[in-house]
Amino acid sequence: MASRVDRDPRCGWTGSVSFEEMWRALAPVGRSATSGGYFRQPFTPAERECADWFAAEAAARGLTLEYDGFGNVVAWWDVPGASGPAVLTGSHLDSVLDGGAYDGPLGVVSSFAAVDLLRERGFVPGRRIGIGAFVEEEGSRFGLACLGSRLAVGAVAVADAEALTDRDGVRLGDAWASAGLDPAAGSKLLADVGCFVELHVEQGRDLVHRDAAVGVASEIWPHGRYRFDFAGEANHAGTTRMEDRRDPMLTYAMTALAANKQARLAGQRATFGRIAVEPNGTNAVPSHVTAWLDARCSTDAGLAALVEEISRQGLARAERDGTTLAVTAESVSKSVAFSSSLAATIADPHGWPVIPTQAGHDAGILSEAGIPTAMLFVRNPTGVSHSPAEFAPMADCLAGVDALADTLERLACKFPRLSGETCGCQ
Ligand code: GLV
Ligand code: MN
Ligand code: MN
Repeated sequence: MASRVDRDPRCGWTGSVSFEEMWRALAPVGRSATSGGYFRQPFTPAERECADWFAAEAAARGLTLEYDGFGNVVAWWDVPGASGPAVLTGSHLDSVLDGGAYDGPLGVVSSFAAVDLLRERGFVPGRRIGIGAFVEEEGSRFGLACLGSRLAVGAVAVADAEALTDRDGVRLGDAWASAGLDPAAGSKLLADVGCFVELHVEQGRDLVHRDAAVGVASEIWPHGRYRFDFAGEANHAGTTRMEDRRDPMLTYAMTALAANKQARLAGQRATFGRIAVEPNGTNAVPSHVTAWLDARCSTDAGLAALVEEISRQGLARAERDGTTLAVTAESVSKSVAFSSSLAATIADPHGWPVIPTQAGHDAGILSEAGIPTAMLFVRNPTGVSHSPAEFAPMADCLAGVDALADTLERLACKFPRLSGETCGCQ
């Protein structure tokens, strides 16, 4: 058998055709004609079209589709004689608002292409291989990131999830019903999963600096979403003397500056990326500003300290402005350390770098639920992500497919492939 390390996947590999065809088919779905970015919020027509595309690709390969009650799906490659815990790969198909093409879909498309490549190689898995697509990974509609994977592992109660609402007040419970889903059915998708590997576009430039097309994740930084409610007094923008105002926009503005400064001082990350203003009129001092802080740090303690300091400065400013501030942690994800032995099993034979990420992923949720989990990253030349400008060159995407195929082969093999090797997914 040819060595994986020496083989050049782009010599005579027709799997590259399947990747490019799939990429072209998905490209127009949910793309904005003005920005070129994607709007694939869960249970909207664009995201459902992606889900239909997923089902069609699975059917074309003879994979068995299994859905759960929340909108998550796995396409199983069932092989007679396969036994033991399954190997799951895949990612998500939803996007942030005006997001890029790669965050999520790259992992799903690469998974189908990797199965094609494994079949071309004549590989017969000793374990079932599944391709998953988790719903609402971005939390762009119902506010809670990795919602589908959290539900699948039981990390969030169904009743709490059902009550989540989108910006138009639509309850997730109603969105599920409209999509024909029955959350009472729960999820059995992960019952038989022995390990999970998620391929993802890199959302930074670490691999660029290391001159590597592919990397493996070591950890996910702790991160959280916090709602800041600033309340003041609505009043006339012209007749109200400046010294008589109780303007929550001022308190918000100073808090946003404080977040940026404190994150810089701590060498961490803090962003107010979303606000809602009431009544949102040009000629009125607002009565209320709601702003959402996204904060990320290298340690759990650092995250808590950063948010505390931003809140403290916001509260002090509120006192001076005659306004009030209430801070609510809407979701906090602790640091995730991926299995170092699984990462080494995947990375070491190829010399792939093992790097941390500041982005959240379903892989982090599965890892925290006790499923040995790894991530493969594909180089992103600019590092830009959550933006229409997100990009990965085709050659690197194909290197990612090859890396994923090698990884699945290693984890789903029946017998050790090279002397002294063992399956990493026992
Ligand atoms: C998800 O992509 C996140 O990191 O917010
Ligand atoms: Mn994302
Ligand atoms: Mn993602």
